Amino acid sequence: MFTMQDSSSVSRNLIFIIFIIFLFDLRVQSYNTTIITNGDNCDPCVGIFHVYVTDCNGSVIRDAGKRSCSFFDPTVFFNWEEAPDLYCVHLYPQTHPPRNRYFGYRSTDSCMILAGDEETWHFEQRDVANCIKDSCKG
Ligand SMILES: *[C@@H]1O[C@H](CO)[C@@H](O)[C@H](O)[C@H]1NC(C)=O
Ligand SMILES: *[C@@H]1O[C@H](CO)[C@@H](O)[C@H](O)[C@H]1NC(C)=O
Repeated sequence: MFTMQDSSSVSRNLIFIIFIIFLFDLRVQSYNTTIITNGDNCDPCVGIFHVYVTDCNGSVIRDAGKRSCSFFDPTVFFNWEEAPDLYCVHLYPQTHPPRNRYFGYRSTDSCMILAGDEETWHFEQRDVANCIKDSCKG
């Protein structure tokens, strides 16, 4: 009898511990989002762009501020490794805030590429696995 009780309370505790680990794992799950620019490799990015991440419902959860890109800047224009389950990555040229563009993601890492200037700019999604590699091929 006592042995039975002990073993069932042990397995109850185990289930409890596994459940806590599971919750903790859910809590810390975050995603890696990156915007690259071409640097001086090919189609360059020249300008100042405001970059920020929202919850896809109007709330800014990460504001990277206004960032400039140029021939000489590093390939990684923006990176955030703590993006939540649902997030939208927004960007607009400082001269044209209404031209805001964004991509939304759910439970995935993401990679985007920015090229052009503040008048004529391209903001596109890229394959995450080849995010930085071979950045010339948008
Ligand atoms: C979006 O935001 C509005 C206003 O804050 C809120 O009422 C609504 O529940 C939100 N929707 C989602 C899906 O979070
Ligand atoms: C996030 O993505 C960037 C671009 O692919 C990569 O360089 C970086 O190592 C990634 N970070 C993590 C923690 O995986």
